[in-house]
Amino acid sequence: MIRPRPWLHAIHPYRPGSHAVTADGSMASNESPLGASPQVALAVAAAAGAAHHYPDPLADTLRAELAHRHDIDPDQILVGNGSDELIYLLAWAYLAHGGHAVCADPAYRMDEISSMVVDARLTRVPLRRWTHDLDAMADIDADIAYVVNPHNPTGTAHTHSALERFAENCRAHLAVFDEAYIDFTDDPDTTTAMPLAREGRAAVLRTFSKIHGLAGLRVGYLVASKEIVETLRTVRAPFSVSTLAQAAAVAALRDEPHRQAVRRHTLEQRTVLTQLLTDAGYQVVPSQANFVLVRATDEDALVDGLAAHGISVRPGSTLGVPGTVRISVPTAKGLSLLQQALG
Ligand SMILES: Cc1ncc(COP(=O)(O)O)c(C=O)c1O
Repeated sequence: MIRPRPWLHAIHPYRPGSHAVTADGSMASNESPLGASPQVALAVAAAAGAAHHYPDPLADTLRAELAHRHDIDPDQILVGNGSDELIYLLAWAYLAHGGHAVCADPAYRMDEISSMVVDARLTRVPLRRWTHDLDAMADIDADIAYVVNPHNPTGTAHTHSALERFAENCRAHLAVFDEAYIDFTDDPDTTTAMPLAREGRAAVLRTFSKIHGLAGLRVGYLVASKEIVETLRTVRAPFSVSTLAQAAAVAALRDEPHRQAVRRHTLEQRTVLTQLLTDAGYQVVPSQANFVLVRATDEDALVDGLAAHGISVRPGSTLGVPGTVRISVPTAKGLSLLQQALG
């Protein structure tokens, strides 16, 4: 009988957030409360006519749009089936057969899982005051250092000077900055690592799953040096990003007013959500993302209590932070549900 490779036994599979009965009550997966741009459905319908053709392997139209937007060479961009695919490609290319990764503890779970799949060594550096301990992480001689900025599941973000210092001192061969939530930052001291990626000094991951609301279509991208992109191209499956997903991403990028509306809604409702929870007696970690992490002495009681009101949230114990609950910024109706539940 065939058996899995022995190191796979140590992996706890990823546990996705559960959906509530209603979309308004679903606050477990950091999805867009306003959905995708209406232009996306039109673009997907139009692209469906080409469903019998293989997709463009490198998503050239999308890459050109992204290159223009980030003022970067298209050959420094790789589009993937969500940023999760790109995280796997990095692990296969740079961590398999004796590699070493460093990440925060708790980490974004796919950084951990992909490293463990290729039997890499993984060093977890505990957070300090809910943020990455960048100085301690920089000191570790690894192949890849994963920094999630803003962090999932805490929502904390790093300042420009902290990122610069990290990039300067980092002993890992490659710093990967996962910026899935960067569109939701409003602290002027926080920053993107895109200039570092442009110079080939780091890799940046972005996703269309959050502000663009395309979680169900699976599109993300990596920006890095041309050499890294070329290496990952040799590893990837050629048609991993479907024609519909590519068309949707282009349409989403071109609808800047919708992106702005999602950002506005998220920032406004994040403040209201934080206040609501604070008024109800909970400590909330100040967030720069589209969710908040709430401290709860009885995590199960809070999760179950909200579930009784038709609200699904993410138990912190499934994210490596027991004694907390992660709540995504909801719709306006979702917020009323929460208000009733907490009241
Ligand atoms: C930090 C982080 N990176 C990546 C992802 C996944 O992105 P995608 O849907 O593009 O695979 C998530 C999703 O929750 C995330 O929190």
